[in-house]
Amino acid sequence: MERTERLRRQDKQAIWHPFTQMADWEKEAPLVIERGEGNYLFDTDGNRYFDGVSSLWVNLFGHRRREIDEAVREQLSRLAHSTFLGLTHEPAIELAGKLLAVGPPGLSRVFYSDNGSTAMEIAIKMAFQYWRQKEGGGKREGFLALSGGYHGDTIGSVSAGGIDLFHGIFRPLLFPVCRLPMPHCYRCPYGLARPSCGLHCAERMEEEVRERAGSLAAVVVEPLVQGAAGMILMPEGYLGRLRAATRECGVLLVCDEVATGFGRTGTMFACEQEGVSPDILAVAKGLTGGYLPLAATLATEEIYGAFLGRFEEFRTFFHGHSYTANPLGCAAALATLSIFEREDVLGRVRRLSAVLSDELGRLEGRPHVGEIRRKGLMAGIEIVKDKKTRESFSPAEKVGQRIVRKVREQGILLRPLGDVVVLMPPLSSTEAEIERLVCAVDGAIREVVPG
Ligand SMILES: Cc1ncc(COP(=O)(O)O)c(C=O)c1O
Repeated sequence: MERTERLRRQDKQAIWHPFTQMADWEKEAPLVIERGEGNYLFDTDGNRYFDGVSSLWVNLFGHRRREIDEAVREQLSRLAHSTFLGLTHEPAIELAGKLLAVGPPGLSRVFYSDNGSTAMEIAIKMAFQYWRQKEGGGKREGFLALSGGYHGDTIGSVSAGGIDLFHGIFRPLLFPVCRLPMPHCYRCPYGLARPSCGLHCAERMEEEVRERAGSLAAVVVEPLVQGAAGMILMPEGYLGRLRAATRECGVLLVCDEVATGFGRTGTMFACEQEGVSPDILAVAKGLTGGYLPLAATLATEEIYGAFLGRFEEFRTFFHGHSYTANPLGCAAALATLSIFEREDVLGRVRRLSAVLSDELGRLEGRPHVGEIRRKGLMAGIEIVKDKKTRESFSPAEKVGQRIVRKVREQGILLRPLGDVVVLMPPLSSTEAEIERLVCAVDGAIREVVPG
């Protein structure tokens, strides 16, 4: 207790936390996390919490998974880090081969970095420079992205992002990006009813791609689930049609699978579900099983080829980071991919998804549950003030935060997105844990916003 209090005090004196209103933080008694074991985190007072959002969407197989621990330790006994500029190493070489083997067909090059934002920053710069250097490429400099998109917090990925709350203030710093309305049937941007609204969104998207084809370098999307927007699900067929339209117009398609990758949606990558292979794919988060910061941007041979030339032509991709392809991260990623090889992880996700779906079904009738969205083990429950009009609560009511607080009293950690309660349990969860998670959320919703 004393130690916890001391740590809290020291934290408040020196630290500035991400995506956190620090004036509120200073008044709170934050949990000080000390260790993890399986799907649980433990605080310094010995309390145990189920990791209900996989430590912000990164963890796949729980904490202190033996194979990943051992792989990192083994790598540590040889080399913690060396630069990837002008040198290479075995874990990165082996990992590149494995990533290309599990990734969507057609991708043949791996460019490493260290987090989702930089993986997307790289994707954007790569697409831009590709057109500059492609034989007869023309002046294709534009990007088309979705409203509600989230691709990270660096300036390039913020430019592609479309969440006003996070990105609005930075607009003067950003490059302009053409914006497609978020295809979200619950709040249809065209005011239409299901199912025609989904089709309409797809048609308008195709028109937009065709109209802008000559000036677009790439279309950038989070396939199937727009996570940070509140787990918004793409209408079925939208992604496939986007791939067809971009192919037809010779525009690159960049898929950001930072959140959806590595089994979270029920397939290794979300874009597989619509038979889509992007030209550029960004991965991070689950890549190391949630252990270490490592990311990768995968590209086609066609894109890679445009960067080849004589040294003095300077067609080089001038981008890199001190910790690019960190060997410890690569070792953790290799161990993560071997778990996928050895165990039927995707079969397990499908079984757990069915349980999650059934459990969430019980919440449908609750008076303030607006929409329940789920793809695989990614779910969002949108809480609304008025179920009929779909009116939201005022942000000052902090409904999402209050619900999550209540859930914490039940020994479960969650983090909401506004008034969307996000559930993203580790892929290693048990059926009983999923049931307990939804039951606790249901109870908390009914307590915080009773009928
Ligand atoms: C789709 C998507 N892209 C990019 C990012 C940024 O990743 P990172 O936080 O590792 O920079 C996130 C993070 O949540 C994400 O969900």
